[in-house]
Amino acid sequence: MVLAKVTMQQTDFLVIGSGIAGLTYALKVAAECPDKKITIITKTREDETNTKYAQGGVAVVNDLENDSFEKHIDDTLIAGDGLCNKQIVEIVVKEGPERVNEIIEWGANFDKNDTGTFSLGREGGHSEFRVIHYKDVTGKEIERALLDAIHKNPNIELITHCFVVDLITQHHLGYLITKSTPDIECYGVYVLNLLTNKIEKILSRITLVATGGNGQVYRSTTNPPIATGDGVAMVYRAKGRIENMEFIQFHPTALYQPGVNNAFLITEAVRGDGGILRNIHGEEFMHKYDARLSLAPRDIVARAIDSEMKIDGTEFVYLDCRHMDMEKFVHHFPNIYEKCLSAGIDVKKDMIPVSPAAHYSCGGIKVNEWGRTSINNLYACGECSSTGLHGANRLASNSLLEAMVFAHRCYIDAVKRIASIPLKNDVPDWNAAGTTAPKEMILITQSLKELKQIMSDYLGIVRTNERLQRAIRRLDILHEETEALYERTEVSPQLCELRNLITVGYLIVKSASFRKESRGLHFNTDYPQKSALVQNIVL
Ligand code: FAD
Ligand code: SIN
Repeated sequence: MVLAKVTMQQTDFLVIGSGIAGLTYALKVAAECPDKKITIITKTREDETNTKYAQGGVAVVNDLENDSFEKHIDDTLIAGDGLCNKQIVEIVVKEGPERVNEIIEWGANFDKNDTGTFSLGREGGHSEFRVIHYKDVTGKEIERALLDAIHKNPNIELITHCFVVDLITQHHLGYLITKSTPDIECYGVYVLNLLTNKIEKILSRITLVATGGNGQVYRSTTNPPIATGDGVAMVYRAKGRIENMEFIQFHPTALYQPGVNNAFLITEAVRGDGGILRNIHGEEFMHKYDARLSLAPRDIVARAIDSEMKIDGTEFVYLDCRHMDMEKFVHHFPNIYEKCLSAGIDVKKDMIPVSPAAHYSCGGIKVNEWGRTSINNLYACGECSSTGLHGANRLASNSLLEAMVFAHRCYIDAVKRIASIPLKNDVPDWNAAGTTAPKEMILITQSLKELKQIMSDYLGIVRTNERLQRAIRRLDILHEETEALYERTEVSPQLCELRNLITVGYLIVKSASFRKESRGLHFNTDYPQKSALVQNIVL
């Protein structure tokens, strides 16, 4: 690992992001191309990623007696509410087991039963027990194993504390004249080296964006502070295609601890093992909303909780685990058990206060079945991408699987093409002329607070046309002020993240406004029904 010492200005394969998507891709490329240089950059510590926080596990078909690819495909399509790309769903489900075997070979552990088979969890929307996991800290275990493998690899350089500010792209003239499909090339990135505070450039033949999610655009989120939608915003600025941003998944059960960022997740697997949702009076309520009760798909459970909180005027409901086998609970969920205890909640005796929190972005950078974006030599995978797997609502624990399958597909395609892609050498340096040190960082903090407030109030679980219009007007002001600040101020991660989050907010509200229906995670009371037209919103 190199601490933001950007010693090298040129690389063959550049990877932005050190989560499951970026690390898996880098390991595969390195194994296939030992003569090539692979550079991974990450904006904070190497393991600070959404991946590290994953709890429930990886949904994958492995018990062929009780489960089948067809069942996993159907569950994914049902959760996606008509918008999944069936071909992609089949690819991910069928290629998944092989990808899981690879991370096991790289050293990731998953819990097994006494019989030596995987211990399988169940989550909302799954018709079978099929989620492999490592206790309730699956993501931490995967991240550990992948980083260990990366560190053993001599042709991979991992640079931490290096913030990608923008892609380096060139637009070909034909596009400007005809305004037809953009023909854009990517040549690398401008980075802010957080050790020197200088902007440097890293040139690459092929670049992969694996920058994760954007939960930080909301006030309450399960995502860590790195999840600021940087990749999506950069690609949008470079005029790449972005898709289905209105589908923000709120996890129904984050531990209710007002003011805590990021909110601690109580995995859906707890409900899979028998946890029951109750309102503030201790009454069960899911039967009023869905026959699948607490294990209905997330959009339905999150809306049911939202409705119950509104009826009772409260900010949380309860998850009741008191009736569960506590020995089993502590064995499967040691992290949750300890976290609750530290918050004064003894799961054996107390119900856990929970409320929905922004959790996962189903849309993102539009890619094809090989992870290619609409920009040449630029790939994307993981949470920042939109592959067509999730449609209008992601099936629980499908995202780690998707990241592995698409990292593999990006690698297959990229190594085939690398020899024909030259490095561009005549790229100008970053122009910081006319910018000065920020006078007041508090302006950035205040704008961020306003942004989170706007998004939480107007683009939450339940939306209306009026709320969307209000959000657009308010975002316009924030956008104008932040762009002016960006023009005159030296670049900092805080300013870049604010700018990126405003772009993400704008993309969410724009896509939400274009969708004249309620579908999956996008619920607009002015259009309570689904329309007959089934389409993706591409910006
Ligand atoms: P990440 O793991 O988020 O990695 C993103 C990387 O990009 C980071 O290294 C970050 O530093 C870097 N980066 C971002 N911007 C920049 C920049 N400007 N410059 C440089 N580097 C940058 N999914 C499941 O399938 N199963 C689960 O059980 C599950 N549980 C979850 C629990 C929680 C609490 C959360 C938050 C998510 C969970 N998910 C789960 C979702 C899943 O964890 C993520 O979708 C997945 O890990 C994303 O991986 P990624 O590689 O795309 O991005
Ligand atoms: C969870 O463990 O409940 C989260 C799973 C996911 O987001 O896929």
